[in-house]
Amino acid sequence: MNLKVNMENIENYNEMLNAEADHWDEFERDFIENKKIIPWWLDLQRASKVAPNTNEGLDPYKENLVRGKYKQKILENCNSGDKVLDIGCGSGWLSLELARKGCQVTAIDISPYRIALAKAYLAKIQKTETLLGSINYICGDIKEVELASPLDVIVAWDSLHHFPSLDELFERLKQFLKPEGKIVCYDHLGSKFIENLGKIRRYFVEEKVSAFEDVSQDEIHEFINKHFQIEEKRYRISAPFRLLAFALFRYDFFNFLIRPAVAMDEIICNKLKFLGKEFIFIKAKNK
Ligand SMILES: C[S@@+](CC[C@H](N)C(=O)[O-])C[C@H]1O[C@@H](n2cnc3c(N)ncnc32)[C@H](O)[C@@H]1O
Repeated sequence: MNLKVNMENIENYNEMLNAEADHWDEFERDFIENKKIIPWWLDLQRASKVAPNTNEGLDPYKENLVRGKYKQKILENCNSGDKVLDIGCGSGWLSLELARKGCQVTAIDISPYRIALAKAYLAKIQKTETLLGSINYICGDIKEVELASPLDVIVAWDSLHHFPSLDELFERLKQFLKPEGKIVCYDHLGSKFIENLGKIRRYFVEEKVSAFEDVSQDEIHEFINKHFQIEEKRYRISAPFRLLAFALFRYDFFNFLIRPAVAMDEIICNKLKFLGKEFIFIKAKNK
């Protein structure tokens, strides 16, 4: 799929949106129906690893070492009773954790398969687990969503870079946010070095990317800054970390290296501020 974004042309947008939904349907179906596992992005607490010697994205233990701290930071910013909107919720891991701590979550995603899976999984675990909060899963385009009650927090994990025109989107979502509300997210930024590394990787390994992959990665910081007042900002995944992960971390033998590498990566990204930065954590309040 190699469609170009053209926001002037609504037919093109709809075509791309369908391609985006198809991509995530297919991606998720493969894990659930073929690999038959609970991936971390379905349930952090009951996740299993896809196979030995996989990269951090497919191994809940490694994933937790690499990005767990920022998952906790998002959860810490939402209190029991808060009305929270999870945008691009995927199969629902974040919504589920929020509901476990008592939040009332509205969770939106464009992928019908992911939303159906999230709903079915929620119904299944509620037979053995009592959630303090609730989740209303909605399948639809985040650009169209209408919400009834004012929100305390908007959360996003790795999804903002898939939404074209973040300027318009934030303008609209702010209408549903309480004056003292906030947005807390962790997302993918542009990095030339890492993009080039990805191109080299795709030369050797076939990798499918979604229709809107990286469509707004360069807009995230600019438009959060325009519509919200940034209170905290942290960067993660420098080029040396990415290289290490690429070369070593898929082998479980090197697990002992992940923790020190993460500590070094925090310093390189946030104190030394060079060598590329792939992800950003932002907490910002309404203004
Ligand atoms: C990289 S995934 C992240 C999913 C989830 N937040 C997670 O952590 O697993 C991006 C998600 O954004 C969703 N998405 C893309 N465009 C969307 C749109 N316009 N409206 C709602 N969801 C969308 C995709 O279906 C996909 O599930």
